[in-house]
Amino acid sequence: MQRTSEARAHLTGALWIMLSAVAAGASGIGHANAADAPVDAIPSTFAPVSAPAESIRSLSFLVIGISGGIFVVVTAVLFYCVWRFRARPGDDREPPQVYGSNQIEWSWTIVPILIVLVLFLATARTINELQASEVPPEALRVTIVGHQWWWEIRYPDLGVVTANELHLPASRDGARRPTYLHLESADVIHSFWIPQLSGKTDVVPNRRNLMWVEPHTTGTFLGQCAEYCGTQHAKMLLRAIVHEPGEFDAWVAAQKQPATVVGAVADGRAIFQSTACINCHTVEGTNANGRFGPDLTHLMSRTTIGSGAAPNTPENLRAWIASPDHFKPGALMPAMQLADTDLDKLTAWLLTLK
Ligand code: CUA
Repeated sequence: MQRTSEARAHLTGALWIMLSAVAAGASGIGHANAADAPVDAIPSTFAPVSAPAESIRSLSFLVIGISGGIFVVVTAVLFYCVWRFRARPGDDREPPQVYGSNQIEWSWTIVPILIVLVLFLATARTINELQASEVPPEALRVTIVGHQWWWEIRYPDLGVVTANELHLPASRDGARRPTYLHLESADVIHSFWIPQLSGKTDVVPNRRNLMWVEPHTTGTFLGQCAEYCGTQHAKMLLRAIVHEPGEFDAWVAAQKQPATVVGAVADGRAIFQSTACINCHTVEGTNANGRFGPDLTHLMSRTTIGSGAAPNTPENLRAWIASPDHFKPGALMPAMQLADTDLDKLTAWLLTLK
């Protein structure tokens, strides 16, 4: 009984999300205007904010239009036939049997071929438009590495490293700022997907996939790993923060600053440097240079922890270090087993990494 009502609640929830996504797409609502404005909570493919996502939406409208047309025609003919040729009382004649009509054979062969050909050509054109073959010189280059279960984000030309939150400049008339993403995996197959920016691209070990985005609307847009990659696949979340070009340059400049060292929290820094934290994390300017976990140099510039598992608040951060499993069961970060006072000091120091 319990299970049935739970399952029904899930189903209702899923239907609600699908309907709202369609509604949001149809009316084009739900856009944030600045990086710190409310997050666009429904990452609908029908509300694109980037060139590739717009091409995908146009193609889906064409496909929905053609299939919708076929649905309407077939259903109408079906209902007409059911009504027009219904059995009448006292009439038990056999209907005329039609064999070998060339007209019918040709029409139901040629028409579907034409429909498939139109769909094929339109799809091929969109794929060709979206497929990135080479990176134009003015493009921003970003390397994304999928890990179980978080995203490493590196800007090789800018010397910036971050995690789970991809910052991008918006393109403006006369000043295109496309971003080219090199996708790599550190372990298993993931899939990089921010629906309002572009389609999905698989992230495959020992392979480098290339995709591009060119957003024109600022705001925060949600994404998600779209290929089952283990226990915490569902919490391998992503967000893209699209800035005005000048704002983006300011973000880069802030990220290039070394981590702050504040006297009052030196104890926390010492604890960090003497525990296993440093094997997996990097903090510029300390002895920590691990790459198994996210770079923490500017940890507090991110709005979430655990790849979107929880908001990045002091309480959550402390609870996360005490037990990552609390937010993300199966997370590969071990609980650090620190004494409460040490945990407080460590958290206090991490809070200075702005
Ligand atoms: Cu990574 Cu699913």
